Amino acid sequence: MTVLKGIALALASLLAGPVSAQDQVLNLYSSRHYQTDEALYSNFTKSTGIKINRIEGGEDPLIERIRNEGARSPADVLITVDAGRLWRAEQLGLFQPVKSATLEARIPANLREPSGLWYGFSTRARVIAYNKAKVQPGEIRNYEDLADAKWKGRVCMRSSTNIYNLSLLGALIDHLGEAKAEAWAKGVHANLAQEPKGGDTDQLKAVAAGQCDVTVSNQYYYARLLRSEKPDERQVADKIGIVFPNQATWGTHVNISGAGVLKNAPNRQAAIKFLEYLASDEAQRYFADGNNEWPAVANVKIENPVLKQLGEFKRDQLNVAVLGKNQPSSQKLYDRVAWK
Ligand SMILES: [Fe+2]
Repeated sequence: MTVLKGIALALASLLAGPVSAQDQVLNLYSSRHYQTDEALYSNFTKSTGIKINRIEGGEDPLIERIRNEGARSPADVLITVDAGRLWRAEQLGLFQPVKSATLEARIPANLREPSGLWYGFSTRARVIAYNKAKVQPGEIRNYEDLADAKWKGRVCMRSSTNIYNLSLLGALIDHLGEAKAEAWAKGVHANLAQEPKGGDTDQLKAVAAGQCDVTVSNQYYYARLLRSEKPDERQVADKIGIVFPNQATWGTHVNISGAGVLKNAPNRQAAIKFLEYLASDEAQRYFADGNNEWPAVANVKIENPVLKQLGEFKRDQLNVAVLGKNQPSSQKLYDRVAWK
């Protein structure tokens, strides 16, 4: 080796600095557990050399864990679902803001927290599902219709403490104001065919079984049933029609799966790199398709047959951060109308 070459090499390693030497690992706390995620993570490691240590858990328990770990938490990135839940983590002071030209260019402004505390990487729609044998297409078009006395004894809904329903009401509060949103919750509650119980899939099954005629559900639960290997689950989906609500007004309520860099992240640079990678075309496809969701980044082509079949729709353009801000009001309104 010539002296000059030696100096150049030393200089190069000096410029790269000790940060990159530390940043060869990323501790990812995730409530996702999909097969396509394997490819997602291994491609990141292949292109960056950064190894991913994954901690998986339930949504709220993961947030609790990071909180308990405090300043010593090894967590670099939290991936979870629903802007309302990201807001909860934000309220606990778990995130640090990230400024990234890549993320700002790729992720639409309404799908990320304005100061960069968290970003949405895929979208989900809360659709109306109806029993095709009992409801005509076009008979129900809007979330507001669910509160109409016409549907008395015909509506199934899950619990009001569920984050998806809290976020949905958060959107209604923004669009209608608190008084009308409360009247809506009261009306829907009065139309219930049964006390709220179970998850979205249970509501879809109840509709298919004729226990009620309409419900709301995130679209990916319907997609899962339709793509199921179990014939009885496909039969449930076959009995159900899907409506994207509020197409003539503000659009269908859209929520996100998202992620943020944690306040005490030991590998901050790797964490930012990972979020930027999640916004790439390739990662967007894996990330969204793992749960039958839509990519957050515009113009990323999807191959998912169920989503293609459901087609395009008008989306609510509300910043999803508002859903979190309205969460205390949502819970208050649901409690006031005694929606369990
Ligand atoms: Fe879900």
